Amino acid sequence: MRDTYIFAVESSCDETSAAIIKNGCEEIATVVLTQIDIHALYGGVVPEIASRKHIENITIVFEETLKKAGLTVDDIDAIAVTYGPGLIGSLLVGLEAAKTLAFAYNKPLVPVHHIAGHIYANNLEKSMQFPLIALVVSGGHTELIYMKEDYSFERIGGTLDDAVGEAYDKVARVMNLNYPGGPLVDEYAHKGKDTYDLPIPLNDNTYNFSFSGIKSAVINVVHNEKQKGKEINTYDLATSFQERVMGIIVKKTMRALKEYNTENLVVAGGVSANKRLRELLTEECIKNHINLSLPRLAYCTDNAAMIGAAGYYAYKLGRIADLDLNAKANTELK
Ligand code: KG4
Ligand code: ZN
Repeated sequence: MRDTYIFAVESSCDETSAAIIKNGCEEIATVVLTQIDIHALYGGVVPEIASRKHIENITIVFEETLKKAGLTVDDIDAIAVTYGPGLIGSLLVGLEAAKTLAFAYNKPLVPVHHIAGHIYANNLEKSMQFPLIALVVSGGHTELIYMKEDYSFERIGGTLDDAVGEAYDKVARVMNLNYPGGPLVDEYAHKGKDTYDLPIPLNDNTYNFSFSGIKSAVINVVHNEKQKGKEINTYDLATSFQERVMGIIVKKTMRALKEYNTENLVVAGGVSANKRLRELLTEECIKNHINLSLPRLAYCTDNAAMIGAAGYYAYKLGRIADLDLNAKANTELK
């Protein structure tokens, strides 16, 4: 069978990225230009700065990707691009650049949902087995998705308020840790003890999550202790927060696997880099004979390689967009 090469573009937040992926599973070249240092100065992503930086970087990233792969656009079968969800100004830059390439070289344009990309990052490790449960945990999402087969997504639950990464970043801020706080809270949590009395977030029979309550509880602890002139043990507070959050995520994920009678779990999104989540899931999956797939760390956060992997399956299913495709800040995964 002839090989299929997808040129993929991702610019939904603060990473400008392009990649070339062969047959949905083999990374030929990936370039990621992160803006994290710039946004860290402001304690979070500034959308206006993000889109301007994407404009400055996008052509450089495209050229670098082709050069790294030793290929030209003529070798490419289709152009896949994240059309949403994300920051609208950021999405538009990648989308317009991808459309321009598709138009100029007469290549099919394949729209990819950002979360489909995160899930398919796992296909770059080993071929995904179906049916599966996908746990999507990122700065913008916390979702449990049932996939019967390739590119079929049934959302079985998700966060009712903050995404888990968002809660990590907010808790980090109140602890005076730099942006993005998730990795730092994770690091601190591994040095502390679970001593703070924090609530278990939405410990019910649904597959939904809610992290605003525990986030407020952490903020209250910090403020109350400060008022009493007491020192906070940041390590212990990070441990207590992480144990509560990851505990409930793992509990609901394992229940979903059982109730949906599936033996395959894939984890996706920036928070899948979390060490405690990886430890707990590994333990539980061994115990319950579940085939666990975790993306390598470079594929956990935003990158175009994952968009190229998802884009391959979308392309094979004939999901081709017209050149009037628009970016969507919010859009359902389907
Ligand atoms: O998937 P991603 O790169 O961007 C979105 O699509 O949202 O995820 C970024 C999020 C940030 O909130 C960051 O703090 C969080 O992932 N994150 C972590 C860890 N590494 C990244 N959260 C907890 N523990 C980590 N080790
Ligand atoms: Zn993401």
